[in-house]
Amino acid sequence: MKYEELLQTYPESPRLHYAKAQALDSLAESQRSNKHLEEAIAAYQRTMSSKNVPEKLYLLAGKRAADRLRFRGFSGKSVKLLTEMAEKFPLDIDLKNQVAIGYLLIGQNQLAKKVLLEALKVAPDSGFAKVHLGFILKTDESNYEDSIKYLSEGIATRETGVIDGRFYFHLGDALHRIGKKQEALKVYEDAVKEGLFLSVYQRSLYNVDNLTGKPWWNPQSTRYAPDFKILEKNWITIRDEALSLINEKYSGFMPETEGLQEKGVWKQLELFSRGRKIEKNCLKAPKTCTVISQIHDAASCKRGQVKFSIMHPGTHVWAHTGPTNCRLRAHLGLIIPEGASIRVADETRKWEEGRVILFDDSFEHEVWHNGSTYRLVLIIDFWHPELSIYQKRSLTPI
Ligand code: LMR
Ligand code: MN
Repeated sequence: MKYEELLQTYPESPRLHYAKAQALDSLAESQRSNKHLEEAIAAYQRTMSSKNVPEKLYLLAGKRAADRLRFRGFSGKSVKLLTEMAEKFPLDIDLKNQVAIGYLLIGQNQLAKKVLLEALKVAPDSGFAKVHLGFILKTDESNYEDSIKYLSEGIATRETGVIDGRFYFHLGDALHRIGKKQEALKVYEDAVKEGLFLSVYQRSLYNVDNLTGKPWWNPQSTRYAPDFKILEKNWITIRDEALSLINEKYSGFMPETEGLQEKGVWKQLELFSRGRKIEKNCLKAPKTCTVISQIHDAASCKRGQVKFSIMHPGTHVWAHTGPTNCRLRAHLGLIIPEGASIRVADETRKWEEGRVILFDDSFEHEVWHNGSTYRLVLIIDFWHPELSIYQKRSLTPI
């Protein structure tokens, strides 16, 4: 490589190191080579440590190195590098924001929050910092009032990166949860106008275009009708298998953890997830898993799950929206007392024991249980019937 020779003569030239890094970077990309990628990162870092490196080049090399470290999967190292840079340039708001994103990506939300608060001290109007801070306050702390302030102010700046479905999603949800339903609706309408949601009710963010979207489906008029027959034929076996686990101190059932409940007790036991059997749970419910294994578009649904869901009286699940329009969600009623109901978009229905109901959970839905004994269903996600075999194969799991 010609840079090597030149570097022999000018070993401290930051521009040579940078040019070498860029050449390796393109090579890594065209050959999909991790070895070259790591060499490129090293050369960017060497650029940064060269004597007399101009500030602009230091920042350019550092930001690219951090980006490539993350791409290579070294997210911790990426944040560390950005942090060092941010300490050197305490007024560089973009660096602080990048450190915060780095922390969010490795699940260190509280560290991200700390950096974002520092960023807002330096740049009180940074929309980027505001939306990310608002996001953390909503999703980690359920601090609705403050999250609403930061999310709405951040979005209003229209800075790069703030017009993003996730921020509208959580802003609307926070407003909804404190009872400001009209304001929530306005946020959802804005997001539809921005092309971020499919509709005010259908707010999933991982979508395939042009799939039929409607809240409730008639199970008998889809091509999965024979699969629903199988489920309904086996419902007692499935129910009894779940009951024996429930009687063994809820063996394997886990509390719902996505913060969707306002109050109550709601537990689930996952049997399939992202198109794969969960072996250790299927050992507990082998008959149910055998039934599901016969149902190809459920067992292979990489954008869904199969799970038992038990809900105790006094539970309210906030109105919420699933992540993707690529699945339809079937519920097989197993134990259905009075007083439990589910709303999807504008229409509320009840379950029936031994019968399947079918809805699209990318539409807003909400569940209440005001009865006096628990409700038990088996949830079975199916690929949306209009997806092609190729799409089902290539879509990323959710
Ligand atoms: C949901 O899919 O969000 C709920 O319907 C789950 C449940 O157990 O009712
Ligand atoms: Mn749901």
